[in-house]
This record gives sequence, C-alpha cells and structure tokens, in this order.
Amino acid sequence: MSTPVKVAVTGAAGQIGYSLLFRIASGSLLGPDTPVQLRLLEITPALKALEGVVMELDDCAFPLLSGVEIGDDANVVFDGANIALLVGARPRSKGMERGDLLEANGAIFKPQGAALNAHAADDIKVLVTGNPANTNALIAKSNAPDIPAERFNALTRLDHNRALAQLAAKTGTTVNDIRHLTIWGNHSATQYPDVFHAEVNGQNASELVDQAWLESTFIPTVQQRGAAIIEARGASSAASAANATVDHMRDWVLGTPEGDWVSMSVPSDGSYGIAEGIITSFPCTTSGGDYSIVQGLEINEFSQARIDASVAELQEEREAVRSLGLVD
Ligand code: NAD
Ligand code: LMR
Repeated sequence: MSTPVKVAVTGAAGQIGYSLLFRIASGSLLGPDTPVQLRLLEITPALKALEGVVMELDDCAFPLLSGVEIGDDANVVFDGANIALLVGARPRSKGMERGDLLEANGAIFKPQGAALNAHAADDIKVLVTGNPANTNALIAKSNAPDIPAERFNALTRLDHNRALAQLAAKTGTTVNDIRHLTIWGNHSATQYPDVFHAEVNGQNASELVDQAWLESTFIPTVQQRGAAIIEARGASSAASAANATVDHMRDWVLGTPEGDWVSMSVPSDGSYGIAEGIITSFPCTTSGGDYSIVQGLEINEFSQARIDASVAELQEEREAVRSLGLVD
C-alpha cells in the first residue's frame, strides 16, 4: 500500500460531512488502492458531535482508513493536507443581506486560505462546497498566494449531475447515454445548464427536446433544484452534495472518462471572454491531476445571454468581497 493521502474536510460534523466522510474512507474518492488519512475541522462547539462521527468511522473498520485527526484549528488540521474539501460555511439566516453573508463567510474562508497557504502539502487541491461556493473559493484563493490559483475549485458538479438526471428522464434514456453537458456560471439560481453541445446516444440533445421545455422546465428546474430540496426536506441537499463533491475531486485526481467532460468551477483564464480570475463553471477535462477548460465551443445567442448574466453575478460578488478587503 502507498503512503496515505491526507484529506482535510471542514464542517465535518455537518449534514454533508455525515455522508462525505464515509464515502472517502471507503475508497470512493481515490480508489481501492489508496489509503487515506482524514483531517477534520470543526468549530469548537461541534467537536463533541464530531467525536461521535469518528466513533462511527472506527466502527466501519474501513481497510483504507489509516487514521483520523480532528480539531478546531485550521493551522493544525490542514498540516500536510494533499486534498482539502471546504464544506463548512455560514448559512444565510433570516433577514441576512447578501453582503452580510459574504462578510460572515469571509471570516471563515480568509483564515482557511491563509492556513492552507502556510501548512498544506505542495500538491494541495482545494474544492469548496460551502456556499456561496464560488466566491468562498475566490476568498480562499486570494489569501493563499503561494498556492497556484488553479488549485482552488468550487462545486458545480451537483448542478451537472442534476441536469444529467433531468435530461435523461425527459429523453427516456439513462445518464450513461449523455455526453457533453455543461453548467456555466455560478452555483446559484443564475447558473446556466447548457444542452446545445450535449449528445444523447450520439444525437444532439437540442434536437430531441423543444425550446419551450428548455426555457420553462429544464433550466429553471436545475437552477431551483437546491431550493426545491430545502422545501421538501426542510434541509439542504446533503447526500447528493457529498456525492458530487466526491465526483469532482475524484475526476480531478484520477481523470475524466474518455470522450466526455464534466462541469467544474475553476478560476477563469479568460476563456470564452469570461472575466479572468473569477471562479466560474466551465466544461473541463482532466488528466494526470490537471484540468483543462474545453476550448472552441460555439456559443449561441441564447446561451451567451445566460452565461453573461451568471458571470455578471459573480463579478458583483467579487466586487462586494473586494470592498470588504477579502480579496485583491
Ligand atoms: P451543516 O450546517 O449541516 O454543516 C455545516 C458544518 O460546518 C457545521 O457542523 C458547522 O459547525 C461547520 N462549520 C461552520 N463554520 C465552520 C468553520 N469556520 N470551520 C469548520 N467548520 C465550520 O451544513 P451542510 O448541509 O453540511 O452544508 C454545508 C454547506 O454546503 C452549506 O454552505 C450549504 O449551503 C452548502 N451546499 C453546497 C452545495 C453545492 O452544490 N455547492 C450543495 C449543498 C449544500
Ligand atoms: C444546493 O444546491 O442543494 C444547495 O446549494 C442549496 C443551499 O442553499 O444550500
């Protein structure tokens, strides 16, 4: 067996953590031959609950789990981390303005970015799931100047998976029959699920569904899915969010399937005319632990307007956190 990979998870005693940790420890993240050490960060009042989760991890007797460290100090927990899954975040409470939410999350992601910068391993890869995920990732990235910017990603894989499921149901196929679907933009209600390059069993998806379904059903359903789950469950998506977090990081480390791409929120390099530096969702392929933004796709007018709207929202969020002194 190889040396254990150190996987840090924040918000580890939360809902998503309760699914995520067991998936990581069972080998779903890095495969059946890679041992992992979990390094779990929580706020002090949640450490006792986290101890209970660790007891359950022990009780699973996972062969790949080489150890578990827990704590409330990011400088200790992130020490030597190869992978960081930043899940813990401040949720929006009643009456809270967006600016207050960004400020509250800045108080979490600024020091966590600095702690990763100071203590993580040289090959660290960071994925932010905690909302507002794209801008939280931007804050962490901006406070970690020694870590290459492209190592900071945010999660839009859940949106990608939701779009796959909706398109498969509509076309009477399975998710395995679909390729080249893309989520563009922010993990928010402005995100744009794009089927114009998608193929269902080799046929262009936009020829299989009508424009009215796209505009009135598919796009709003994917955009509002998180809210629909909160409405139904009384709590935000957890198992599916943990699953998507695993999918994103596994593909980043181990590679995307031949002939397909996935949606990843990554720092824009200016591709498709999108403002450089914001962390926004693109179609990406990965290989050897690196990702590339898929280039050269034709973007029609309908798609362009929707991508522009979501990117504009991310630029506004960047301005807001800039004015709070959280990013450069
Ligand atoms: P939760 O409230 O059940 O758990 C969050 C945990 O984070 C809590 O245990 C809390 O104590 C901890 N925490 C808070 N501040 C922390 C800090 N500074 N350091 C370490 N831990 C801290 O929430 P959840 O359901 O697990 O969701 C977590 C986040 O993921 C939320 O922001 C949620 O909106 C987001 N989310 C994102 C997606 C996505 O697709 N990007 C999907 C679902 C949920
Ligand atoms: C989701 O997409 O399920 C979550 O981001 C919703 C939320 O607000 O936590």
